[in-house]
Amino acid sequence: MTSSDPRAAETGAPWWRQAVVYQIYPRSFADADGDGVGDLPGILSRVDHLAELGVDAVWLSPFYPSALADGGYDVADYRDVDPRLGTLADFDALVAALHDRGIRVVIDIVPNHTSDLHVWFQEALAAGPGSAARDRYVFRDGIGPDRSQPPADWQSFFGGSAWQPVGDGQWYLHMFAAEQPDLNWGNADVRADFVTTLRFWADRGVDGFRVDVAQMLTKDLADPLPSAAELAAHPVDGSHPMIDRDDVHEVYARWREVFDSYDPPRMAVAEAWVAPARVPLYARQESLGQAFNFDLLLADFDPARFHRIVDDNLALAARSGSSSTWVLSNHDVVRHATRYGLPEPARLPDGAPAEKHGAAWLLSGGVDPVLDRARGLRRARAATLFMLALPGSAYLYQGEELGLHEVADLPPESRQDPAFLRSGGTEVGRDGCRVPLPWTPDGVSLGFGPAAPHLPQPDWFARHSMAVEAEDPASTLSLYRRALALRRELQTAERLEWVDTGREDVLRFRRPNGWEAVTNFGVEPFPLDRVDAVLASSSAPLGVVPGETTVWLAPASGL
Ligand code: BGC
Repeated sequence: MTSSDPRAAETGAPWWRQAVVYQIYPRSFADADGDGVGDLPGILSRVDHLAELGVDAVWLSPFYPSALADGGYDVADYRDVDPRLGTLADFDALVAALHDRGIRVVIDIVPNHTSDLHVWFQEALAAGPGSAARDRYVFRDGIGPDRSQPPADWQSFFGGSAWQPVGDGQWYLHMFAAEQPDLNWGNADVRADFVTTLRFWADRGVDGFRVDVAQMLTKDLADPLPSAAELAAHPVDGSHPMIDRDDVHEVYARWREVFDSYDPPRMAVAEAWVAPARVPLYARQESLGQAFNFDLLLADFDPARFHRIVDDNLALAARSGSSSTWVLSNHDVVRHATRYGLPEPARLPDGAPAEKHGAAWLLSGGVDPVLDRARGLRRARAATLFMLALPGSAYLYQGEELGLHEVADLPPESRQDPAFLRSGGTEVGRDGCRVPLPWTPDGVSLGFGPAAPHLPQPDWFARHSMAVEAEDPASTLSLYRRALALRRELQTAERLEWVDTGREDVLRFRRPNGWEAVTNFGVEPFPLDRVDAVLASSSAPLGVVPGETTVWLAPASGL
């Protein structure tokens, strides 16, 4: 594959600035060897689906050796493939097949923590207190005469204490599951080793990196440790002991040298749940270069919010010099078809609005009796067309092209998410968006593989299988294919202007080449002035913009 596509050649812009990136959660995409777990050969067998869908890149969630305590985000070896998912040769074959089809490859890097099975952590346990091996992690003595109390009262994001004892009076920090010890980014070995890892994959042809919990790496943990209340009260302005510290960008400045030593430079996108004003620090070219914007993913289907989110994020992108990103679904949140079909606003189990927690990934699944499935999907399709017409990169999550809903009613015994397990089931966790994809309407796993899948698929998945939707011009798959093909042709400079519609519930914007998107968030149809220019619609009939629908209009000069 050439390093730049024709559109990039025209504008001189790097490929990632307005890419459609499709997230693959490898364990649940396709299973070639029949162990019930998706694998790299499974993805290889489905690359034609990705090409027909028309994505510019795939992002692979972790495929590294892992005990799967957190779905692979507990990495035991950063420079290998989990044997259940394949081999390095399989990885190379997959990259080659994707590149042959003009699809770039972005992989997930998990630098905040390793798996407890990582050789470093095993060395740290064996080496004992005060050792160089323990300095790669965050070990502290416990409190009390027998050091049997945790060094601080902090809670992990998955529930329970963030400190775990190792039996010799010391405890280690894990902000996520106990099987995910946090690394000490003040340690030179840690910094050097990640540079080696980035080079290892970049040398294998990887085009970019998604950086997991990018805001958490560096920490200032001088004794005495602050209490949880003190941490919560501390401003998150770059000086917080744990989160979004200014000095994390020293790490990324070094990574930037690595990225820029390749031709073309490797890209990176930060998963950083930080205050909007601080997102540009990660998105700057001197740092990671792009950052996720999760605002749409946190918002109800609401025109005023969508309008403000677009304005705010284009302004933030201008400040960083990067392009904006847009995300409606990923492996950590309830699928957007389901979110939009629940009573508004989406609520967490404690009744608080999701955005209050700033952690949509812990949203609980929609429960069927209150879920309006048809409405949720109608709005999801409209939101997707809205998003795909915006300037910047769109990140899609596997299965959204089928209009899949969350699987809210998984049997408790099948659930795997540490958020479920550590909370004793009070938080249902994220398994409901990670159920293996349906490829065919029948078979033991609906075409996912030759054996029963690692999470059970509901009966209604059959109606949404790739094979069924590929035959139906009105399906969500057909809509995505058409939209992505059109987007390639219509893509233009990274700007938009709003067009007054005279209605608060209808948003309309125009890109510099005249490509327009009109979204009706209400239920009253909106009459269209340029019926002949309709290129795509998220629902029928054409001629108006029906309720909860987005329509694309061609530039006046045509396509
Ligand atoms: C990932 C999650 C993961 C967590 C810990 C994230 O934000 O997206 O899936 O559980 O990091 O690695």
